[in-house]
Amino acid sequence: MMNGYNVAILGATGAVGGRLISELAQANIPVKNLKLLASKRSAGKTLSFNGQQLTVEETTPASFKNIDLVLASAGGSVSQKFLPIAVNEGAVCVDNTSAFRMDPEVPLVIPEVNRAQLKQHHGIIANPNCSTIQMVMALAPIYHAFGLKQVIVSTYQAVSGAGQAAWNEMLEQAQQRLNDEPMTAAITPVKGADHHYPLAFNLLPQIDVFEDNGYTHEEWKMIHETKKILLNDMDSSDIKVTATCVRVPVELGHGESVYFTVNDQQATTVDLRQKLSKMPGIIVQDDPKQQLYPQPLTAAGKRATYVGRIRADEENPGAFNMWIVADNLLKGAAWNTVEIAECLVEDKLI
Ligand code: A2P
Repeated sequence: MMNGYNVAILGATGAVGGRLISELAQANIPVKNLKLLASKRSAGKTLSFNGQQLTVEETTPASFKNIDLVLASAGGSVSQKFLPIAVNEGAVCVDNTSAFRMDPEVPLVIPEVNRAQLKQHHGIIANPNCSTIQMVMALAPIYHAFGLKQVIVSTYQAVSGAGQAAWNEMLEQAQQRLNDEPMTAAITPVKGADHHYPLAFNLLPQIDVFEDNGYTHEEWKMIHETKKILLNDMDSSDIKVTATCVRVPVELGHGESVYFTVNDQQATTVDLRQKLSKMPGIIVQDDPKQQLYPQPLTAAGKRATYVGRIRADEENPGAFNMWIVADNLLKGAAWNTVEIAECLVEDKLI
């Protein structure tokens, strides 16, 4: 493309949308024109991109005329409705929602792990769930070197993953607590659910809706997305995966405690650390003597995935624990999305 791409950001006013704008501004993507799309509520607002003030527009089917690249993060139903229209208009869409992730025609991509899948795209590429991305970033080099039998993960997920409104609500709850007033909740844990509970000074073991088997949909996503990315089969039993997802009163940065077993019983923590340190996008922060370990406050604003607390289960050979933290709005969302777009440009796939 000689003078750059016409790019649209769908959901530009949201928590992820703001990061999509700033990540795109720093990306290796020549932008001819940027269109900022949201709902009618935000039409007319202005946001800045590369020092330019741009006006947010209401999203309609006509919004996608002459658009080459769409970065979408406005919720699953909005992607369902508009991305097929954008593809028809000739755009390539990188979708941060769960709308198309399990479609066998749609590559589910973490560039450091399965970039080659991008070649298979038919107009839509899905960005995995934030919790899946940071876990698979750390598991992929271990899987390739030592094989993986089983993964058991518990997450500690920041409120920003539930959107800007939930984030604002948690800060209000904290203020209510400091004022000695009762905390109120209308969004957390899940917008539109029957019951709401305060997240501030609390833990909520519910992210997304419940499935019939008692798992939440977030847990389901972690299980099946991991299999689709590592094994190319969302239902494979080659790696057993189970998850417990918990919302914690942290603003930015998901934590994950991951217990896993490898096929190669000779693998040691030294081997694991070595493979992890060579993985692009991973930073090992693991020095108990110096109290060095990943934390949400230190990972926030960074593109990397941080891994520490790497330990062998001394009672089970071939089993290990590790602790993973990444900024859920960057590697978990906007940065992975923009990184996919950079790869599409570099590989001439737009
Ligand atoms: P708006 O600000 O106009 O509501 P978050 O993930 O932080 O909740 O943000 C959701 C994003 O999706 C916002 O930019 C929001 O815009 C946008 N959005 C929500 N509903 C629609 C819709 N029906 N059409 C287009 N964008 C939408």
